[in-house]
Amino acid sequence: MLDKHPLSDAGPSLERNHADATTLEALRSDAESCRRCDLYRNATHLVFGDGPRNAEIVLVGEQPGDKEDLAGKPFVGPAGRLLDQCLEEAGIDRDRCYVTNAVKHFKYQMRGKKRLHARPNAGEMQRCAWWLGAELELLQPKLVVALGATAVSSLLGSKVRVMRDRGRILRPSGQVEILVTIHPSALLRIREPGEKEKSRLAFIRDLKKIRGFLRH
Ligand code: URA
Repeated sequence: MLDKHPLSDAGPSLERNHADATTLEALRSDAESCRRCDLYRNATHLVFGDGPRNAEIVLVGEQPGDKEDLAGKPFVGPAGRLLDQCLEEAGIDRDRCYVTNAVKHFKYQMRGKKRLHARPNAGEMQRCAWWLGAELELLQPKLVVALGATAVSSLLGSKVRVMRDRGRILRPSGQVEILVTIHPSALLRIREPGEKEKSRLAFIRDLKKIRGFLRH
């Protein structure tokens, strides 16, 4: 297939990592006291990755949302439910995947009493890339799935574009293979039912590419 594993640049999270922790539990505990950027100040919880230590697949989102910040777990809110449904339709068991984010604290703006998602900036993404890189070094997955633009920048740098490159599996030199796709929250924002369904099916088509990386 023409598109199988074209080389790509590695993003900040794939730079050589010198974390001391030798287990995910120890890494998580180190991350609890992270002060690399200011996002910890207003967050309720650090939201570290979650899933089996021997996962072959790692799914990477952007950052925790309101529900994830309160629960301290990734992808437990509306985007997470949609992700679960699409994974199921693609024939993939989420419980076999390790799920994490490019940025580990919730960034938001207050609108009245509501906490509205605010996109992490490049500096916040870059500082947090260190933790994602350390997770990946410990996990050594077969495939990483970059969900949306922030995960793509963290893993693959700024030359890869989600809408242009979605569905491709890229492999930065000497690194793990990375599937590029959209973030499930992009589907939540589409209002027109026909368009929404078309985009949902395209997302499931991308996710089906994970199956070739799972031992049966
Ligand atoms: N969106 C993300 O990118 N990650 C989460 O954990 C939840 C919503």
